Amino acid sequence: MRVEYITARMAWMIYGATGYTGELVAGLAKARGQAPVLAGRSADKVRPLAEKLGLPWRAFGLDAPDLREIALVLNCAGPFSHTSRAMVDACFAARAHYLDVTGEIEVFESIFARDAEARERGVVLLPGTGFDVVPSDCLAATLKKRLPSATSLELAFAPHGRPSRGTLKTMVENLPRGGLVRRGGKLVRVPPAHLAREIPFCDKPRMAMSIPWGDVSTAYKSTGIPDITVFMSARPSAIRGARISRYFAPLLGLGPVQKFLKARVEARGAGPDEAERARGKVELWGKVSDGSRSIEETMQVPEGYTFTAEAALACALRVLSGSVAPGAWTPSLAFGADFAASLPGVHVPSCG
Ligand SMILES: NC(=O)c1ccc[n+]([C@@H]2O[C@H](COP(=O)([O-])OP(=O)(O)OC[C@H]3O[C@@H](n4cnc5c(N)ncnc54)[C@H](OP(=O)(O)O)[C@@H]3O)[C@@H](O)[C@H]2O)c1
Repeated sequence: MRVEYITARMAWMIYGATGYTGELVAGLAKARGQAPVLAGRSADKVRPLAEKLGLPWRAFGLDAPDLREIALVLNCAGPFSHTSRAMVDACFAARAHYLDVTGEIEVFESIFARDAEARERGVVLLPGTGFDVVPSDCLAATLKKRLPSATSLELAFAPHGRPSRGTLKTMVENLPRGGLVRRGGKLVRVPPAHLAREIPFCDKPRMAMSIPWGDVSTAYKSTGIPDITVFMSARPSAIRGARISRYFAPLLGLGPVQKFLKARVEARGAGPDEAERARGKVELWGKVSDGSRSIEETMQVPEGYTFTAEAALACALRVLSGSVAPGAWTPSLAFGADFAASLPGVHVPSCG
């Protein structure tokens, strides 16, 4: 098949630009002198934002995508289980690169499964360009470099800040699915908070519980390490609550329960304000082991949404520059293990 070259002279697009995260990325892009096309399914929402930022705009639903003259789409419209397949299809048809800020394991898996198609079409697929999974993926890749014989990987993060409405909606959808870890190279369902233990974060140790985080998919693609568990810091009461939820997890998937929970989320604010984002930060920790040796690394990054905007914009600009070959990639495979450390406000302290 003939592959047409995607040129940096063409425009790029932020889809879902009117959401909390999309607007942060759009504002940052404008501040950095970029002019992405802002897009979303509602003209009434996209037009005022585009006029405020002085950027071009388009309105379309995913049943009739309009990617004319677009070289790259950064999809910020989540939950991505509802948007990524249609947008990847549209990107293949338009020969545009596809990036998103998903953290959803099933979405990563379905995008990685389209690697061969992406190569054939000359398109880059790069999901997970936000907090989930840029820093943890780079931490995993760094650890694998330091211990190539590693057979197990543990990653953990301790957020200081609150989630956005869109993140909470995505979490509500995933509640009934319980936990997920990787064992022997396979994704394995486990109960919520299957494992809990103290993690030696750089600033202080904290209790943490296992969670179904994106790295269970992406770190395997990046490192090939067969056993992967991701932890998030949590108070003992939250760990007990997550464990109790095992007994009614199937109920959480029922239509009326999902509707009720999403309505409660809808009533909340869109996400942390500027002052909260400025105060927030995230501690990350990772450990690899090969049974006889183990190595640990830590990282500190800015608040999750501030980091997401910086990381997603940096990924989009690097892909537009032509530095990534066609195919489906993780951030560390696309840009190297040092990529996260090159972003503003990221520190790689030596602890312990
Ligand atoms: N990986 C990370 O670290 C990271 C960081 C930030 C956010 N996220 C994820 O990004 C997603 C968005 O978060 P957010 O806080 O920005 O949410 P949000 O404020 O609720 O915004 C969601 C955006 O997506 C659009 N959208 C949703 N479903 C759509 C569909 N079926 N078709 C077209 N557009 C659709 C919405 O359009 P309407 O306004 O028209 O409904 C809105 O523009 C969530 O899944 C969140 O988990 C991930």
